[in-house]
Amino acid sequence: TEQTFSILKPDATRRNLTGAVNAVIEEAGLRIVAQKRILMTKAQAETFYAVHRERPFFGELVEFMTSGPVVVQVLEGENAIAKYREVMGATNPANAAEGTIRKKFAQSVGENTVHGSDSPENARIEIAQFFSGNEIVR
Ligand code: GTP
Ligand code: MG
Repeated sequence: TEQTFSILKPDATRRNLTGAVNAVIEEAGLRIVAQKRILMTKAQAETFYAVHRERPFFGELVEFMTSGPVVVQVLEGENAIAKYREVMGATNPANAAEGTIRKKFAQSVGENTVHGSDSPENARIEIAQFFSGNEIVR
């Protein structure tokens, strides 16, 4: 079993969709073993998305991620990292498969409802950025 890091982004909280997104997560067999609603600081968002700092959309991305509450989560399950990426759908909702979170809910490539870790190494780094060990309850 594996853990991955998830964020329900500000477009999800703004539209009151956190329960609807969590239903898709749980129906996929992933278990929410940690969860909290926070306002990300600019510094937290810049650290979190540091790999994208040279991209033209970096400023917009940080602006969006700090524009309202987010829900940060740790998800656990068999092949959780790959499974969650599959459940999320393509980065651009226009390319996302039927039944995926981004197909159902996302509005644009920028406001795309969810984040999920893309590797075991990044999952560990991202979980550690937002959760201490005793906040993860299996
Ligand atoms: P994350 O799970 O959020 O990391 O998405 P991803 O892994 O599917 O995509 P990627 O890591 O390549 O990009 C990170 C995030 O940057 C995306 O989820 C988008 O929110 C944002 N992003 C990517 N491309 C664009 C773009 O062209 N314009 C804008 N505004 N945002 C973008
Ligand atoms: Mg990514």
